[in-house]
Amino acid sequence: MEQRTGIAIVTGASSGMGASFARALARISAGTLSIPGIPGFDELWLIARRQDRLRKVVDELTQVHPMLQIRCFAYDLTEPGKLLTIRHEIIEAKKQVSLLINNAGFGTYGTFISTGRDLLLKELDLNCRVPTELISITSSFMKSGAIIINIASLAAFAPLGGFALYAATKAFMLNLSVGLATELREQGIFVHAFCPGPVKTEFAEVASGGLRKDVKGGWDPDKAVLYCIKQAGKGKIISVPRFRWRFRMFLAWLFGPIASAFFAWKFMRRPSVRDVHDDTLLSR
Ligand SMILES: NC(=O)c1ccc[n+]([C@@H]2O[C@H](COP(=O)([O-])OP(=O)(O)OC[C@H]3O[C@@H](n4cnc5c(N)ncnc54)[C@H](OP(=O)(O)O)[C@@H]3O)[C@@H](O)[C@H]2O)c1
Repeated sequence: MEQRTGIAIVTGASSGMGASFARALARISAGTLSIPGIPGFDELWLIARRQDRLRKVVDELTQVHPMLQIRCFAYDLTEPGKLLTIRHEIIEAKKQVSLLINNAGFGTYGTFISTGRDLLLKELDLNCRVPTELISITSSFMKSGAIIINIASLAAFAPLGGFALYAATKAFMLNLSVGLATELREQGIFVHAFCPGPVKTEFAEVASGGLRKDVKGGWDPDKAVLYCIKQAGKGKIISVPRFRWRFRMFLAWLFGPIASAFFAWKFMRRPSVRDVHDDTLLSR
């Protein structure tokens, strides 16, 4: 019989795709959404900094599935010690981890030089070190059938001038995921790298420091997440939704990294308030 207990962890669950993942998982647990291959779980752990926004998500999910145990951790994941606290909580819960969704992340529009060092390092830390450490911590609590979903990006396939660090962090996540997927498959643990193009979330507002409110031409986050979960459930290692995004991935491969970076720098410049002040994101 399929294991029904276990913990599903979603980072960055207070908005955007993280909140959509939380919604989808609550529906899966309630039995109103059926996706083959997704392991059973009876606890949903949501992590992000904004407690009020996490509470709103929990209130919404409780309507869908009153029986699901939901725990919120209002943590800045880049703060020292926070990931070890999560490890401690998993030990205390005496449960397996069924699902880990490494979704928390952000980008910084504007040039590398105009972006403050603290902000660059925070981006590198949240997008790369945090998911790496969370995988290291949670994998020892996983057994066959567990799934790790890492949110990379279409930006993982091409270096981008004007968005250099972000694209590099997502290339890291893609490569880490694919390498790990081959290793962990022997233990029956699946690793999936999700690589969407623009999705309608708070991403652009954060990345531009408030200058751009919406992600230009962004796709619906609930649709994006549903696609990802279905592909992960099928045991796919990488997924890129939408034909137009797969075509952009093909162009990046065809023209190569230097042309891709140059094209982004010349023709896809994104707005940023960084020239005015560089600590907008840190205080959010
Ligand atoms: N939107 C897109 O176009 C797009 C495309 C490809 C990939 N992605 C990736 O998708 C993932 C989700 O982003 P999104 O688009 O949904 O943007 P979003 O709405 O801004 O969500 C980002 C989430 O990360 C959390 N977060 C940020 N800093 C954190 C920290 N230090 N500690 C803990 N949580 C933190 C935020 O919550 P708090 O502010 O409450 O902490 C929020 O819940 C990111 O990894 C992003 O790189 C986005």
